[in-house]
Amino acid sequence: MKIQQNISLKTYNTFGIEAIASHFAEITTIKDLQEILEKEGYPNIFVLSGGSNILITNNLNALVVYINIKGITILSEDENSVVLKVMAGENWHEFVMWSISHDYGGLENLSLIPGNVGTSPIQNIGAYGVELKDYFDSCEAIEIATRQLVKFSKSECQFGYRDSIFKNDGKGKYIITSVNFKLTKSPHKLNTSYGAIESELREKGIGNPTIKDVSNAVMAIRRRKLPDPDELGNSGSFFKNPVITETKFLTFIKDNPEAPFYRISKTSYKIPAGWLIEECGFKAKRFGDAGVHKNQALVLVNYGTASGQDILQLSNKIREAVLKRFGIKITPEVNIVS
Ligand code: EPU
Repeated sequence: MKIQQNISLKTYNTFGIEAIASHFAEITTIKDLQEILEKEGYPNIFVLSGGSNILITNNLNALVVYINIKGITILSEDENSVVLKVMAGENWHEFVMWSISHDYGGLENLSLIPGNVGTSPIQNIGAYGVELKDYFDSCEAIEIATRQLVKFSKSECQFGYRDSIFKNDGKGKYIITSVNFKLTKSPHKLNTSYGAIESELREKGIGNPTIKDVSNAVMAIRRRKLPDPDELGNSGSFFKNPVITETKFLTFIKDNPEAPFYRISKTSYKIPAGWLIEECGFKAKRFGDAGVHKNQALVLVNYGTASGQDILQLSNKIREAVLKRFGIKITPEVNIVS
């Protein structure tokens, strides 16, 4: 394992932001990872995975540890299900395609999400009515302080909406090395209740969809709404959808009767941040090379040479505008790295 110096991170983050890492090491085995954590003289370590949920706002004076550990193994299976161990460096979408080609079901609604398997539990990735936690079994991680491999059960991960222990108490303490998934064998339990999936399948005349059909429908919807990071730099949803109390919601909906919303508990409501941002006039707006996507206002984009600071400034401007207009705080979903 080699430690390189002054490496550009432009191709390692889906925003396509130029930033230099003072030190950089690619890790392909758990043993390499344990060894590098023992190296003296690198007080700042930054763990990099698929780079799909970060905004780098400065050069990094740190040892960037790029997790590229690969492999998929079947741990157990019976008539109805299979448990797979997937190493952290596997690309998420390629793994979803692999599971569909083996007729293992569950992850089809999560097709085309950028990033790697190892970071998928951190923010409990989710789309079109399914979240990672629905098919998650457990994961393994290196505890940075002890360099020991530890196991997390599903309940220990404390999953929530775009949330887990790895964003809270466990933040900065663990590096996930593999994730175990429990997937279904045919007959699968499809989740097509999300409106856009239903209409996509109907338009295609598919009455009895397979997991492949659902995956294709999800990919078609995503391609229409969300920019492909290979063509236009972005990190998916930049903000989380805010959750507000009932009292606040009642005033909000009286003032904005046309606003979309989801009731998530007896006393709380989720409002799509994309709608709030669009209402503030930001959709499709461009400020230099930093902009708001034309089809989904929740996604900030880099037209080419935007710096992390440019995107950060735009996000602050949007947050202020939403707060001023609606009295609602929106917070980034993306990790801001400085
Ligand atoms: N909307 C607008 N204007 C916009 C965008 C959305 O009015 O510019 C409205 C839509 O019309 C709709 C509502 O907001 O009524 C919800 O929109 P959408 O279905 O696109 O979902 P979202 O809440 O904006 C979330 C996830 C996405 C995920 C989709 C589909 C978050 C932060 N984002 O977006 O996840 O793909 O649902 O399930 O929860 C990601 O995390 O990177 C991501 C793309």
